[in-house]
Amino acid sequence: MTTPSDPYRSQGHAPRTGPDPMGPEAVTDTAVTPSGQALQESARRHMWLHFTRMSSYHNNDIPVIVRGEGQYVYDQNGKRYLDGLSGLFVSQIGHGRKEVAEAGARQASELAYFPLWSYAHPRAVDLAERLAGLAPGDLNRVFFTTSGSEAVESAWKLAKQYFKAIGEPARYKVLSREIAYHGTSMGALAITGLPGIKEPFEPLPPGGVRVPNTNFYRAPGFVAEDLTAFGLWAADEIERAILREGPESVAAVFLEPVQNSGGCFPPPPGYFARVREICDRYGVLLVSDEVICAFGRLGYYFGAQRYGYQPDIITFAKGVTSGYAPLGGMLVRDQLMEPFSAGTATFLHGITFAGHPVSCAVALANLDVFEKEDLLGNVRANEATFRATLEQLLDLPIVGDVRGDGYFYGIELVKDKVTRETFNDEESERLLRGFLSQALFDAGLVCRADDRGDPVIQLSPPLTCGPEHFTEMEQILRSVLTQAWSRL
Ligand SMILES: Cc1ncc(COP(=O)(O)O)c(C=O)c1O
Repeated sequence: MTTPSDPYRSQGHAPRTGPDPMGPEAVTDTAVTPSGQALQESARRHMWLHFTRMSSYHNNDIPVIVRGEGQYVYDQNGKRYLDGLSGLFVSQIGHGRKEVAEAGARQASELAYFPLWSYAHPRAVDLAERLAGLAPGDLNRVFFTTSGSEAVESAWKLAKQYFKAIGEPARYKVLSREIAYHGTSMGALAITGLPGIKEPFEPLPPGGVRVPNTNFYRAPGFVAEDLTAFGLWAADEIERAILREGPESVAAVFLEPVQNSGGCFPPPPGYFARVREICDRYGVLLVSDEVICAFGRLGYYFGAQRYGYQPDIITFAKGVTSGYAPLGGMLVRDQLMEPFSAGTATFLHGITFAGHPVSCAVALANLDVFEKEDLLGNVRANEATFRATLEQLLDLPIVGDVRGDGYFYGIELVKDKVTRETFNDEESERLLRGFLSQALFDAGLVCRADDRGDPVIQLSPPLTCGPEHFTEMEQILRSVLTQAWSRL
C-alpha cells in the first residue's frame, strides 16, 4: 500500500523523490515537534514493522500516523491523508467515533476480561446473536478469534475435526485460489496462494491445493471473450482439482467473495452457484473468507449475500469492529456443530483473547453506527459513482483495467494497453516501490500499490465516503500515474 510500509510485501519507505506534491486538500497544521523527533528516533531504533524492508528506514523517516477523523488520518507533522484503504480494509465507519470508543471504555470498566473457555460474557452473547441474525441461512454458531488468520486457521481445524467426528477422517486438504491471501499463521499460510511469502516457512502443513483465480483481464484465450464461460471454467477447475486429489481427501474450499490479492477479482456470474453445486456433490465445505468483504465492503453485511450463495463457514475480522479493537471469528452452519453437541465431544481449539469483552462491545457499537447511518445503503447508492470516477482513469496509457465491486477496487497498471503487457520485475520494483507508493502517499492518499500478482493499485475507502472523496482519489491518482508514465 502506499503507506510506505506495505503489510503484505517487503517494502519500506522509499526516499522522497522530487517536490512534495501535496494536493490542495492536503494541509499541514503543525511543525515537527521535539517529541515528534524523539518518537521518530525511537521508532527507528525499536520498531519491527510487518512485511517491511527495515533497511529503507536507515536514512528515511518512518511515517507515523497519530490520529484520525472521519475519512482522513494525520501524520506526526499534522499532514492530512485521505484513507483510501480504510487503514488495511478495516475502518468501515471511519476514524474518531467517540461513541464506539466509549462503548469499549465502558466495557473495560464493567468487565475487562474473561475467557470464552467454558464461560460466556454478555457482550459476546449479544454479538453472536446479532451476527447470526445478519448472516445468510443457518450460520447460527459463532466461534470468536482475535484476527483473520486465526479465523481461517480455526475454520480449517474445524473442518478437519468435523470430518474425523463424522467418520471421514481422510478429509484434510483445502483448496484455494492462486495469489489469494488468507493470512500468515502456518495453517493460514498453507491456504494462502502467494508462493513468495510461503517459501521461507516451508515445509508448511500439508494439504494446501491451488486452483485458478477469477482474473478475467488475464483469462486463458479459450474463455477470454465470455465472462460467464470463464467463470464456469474457473469453477469447474475446482471440481477437477477435487477429482485429482481424491474427493475423500478434500475437506474444504476457501474463497473470498471478491479476491483481494492480485487486485480485486469479482466472481463472474454463475461462479459461486457452480462452486456450491460442486462442493455439495463431493461433500466438501465451502468457506467464504470474508475478512475483507464482510461488513459493508460490498454493500451487504456479507459478500455471500451480494453474490447469492450459502457458505458452510464465513470467516470474518477487520470491519466487524472497524478497527476500534481487534476481533475476528467464524460463523458456522448448525449442521457443523452437531457432532460436537453430544457426550464428551469438544472442538479442541481456543484462544485466550478471542471474543474479548471490549472488542465485542466495540463491535456492537460499530454495528449500531452501520444501522443508524445506513452505511450499506450509502455504499449501494454510491458504488456506481465510485466505479465511474475510477473508470475515468482508463484514459491514461498506464491504466489497463479497473475492477471491483462496492467500495473495493483494483486498478491494474500495464506497459501496453493494447497487448496488456505487464511490467517485468525490475520495472515493477522501480515503478511501485521506487516511485508510486511514496508519491501517492506524499500526495495525500493512503492506498495500496501491490505487485504480488500483476501491478495494481487498490482502493477500499471507509463506507462513509461519497463522490467528493472519489474525486479526490481520482485526481491524486491521475496526477501521480501521469508522472509515473513519464518516468518509464
Ligand atoms: C481474506 C483474508 N483472510 C485472512 C486475512 C488475515 O487476517 P489478519 O491479518 O487479521 O490475520 C486477511 C488479511 O488481510 C485477508 O484479507
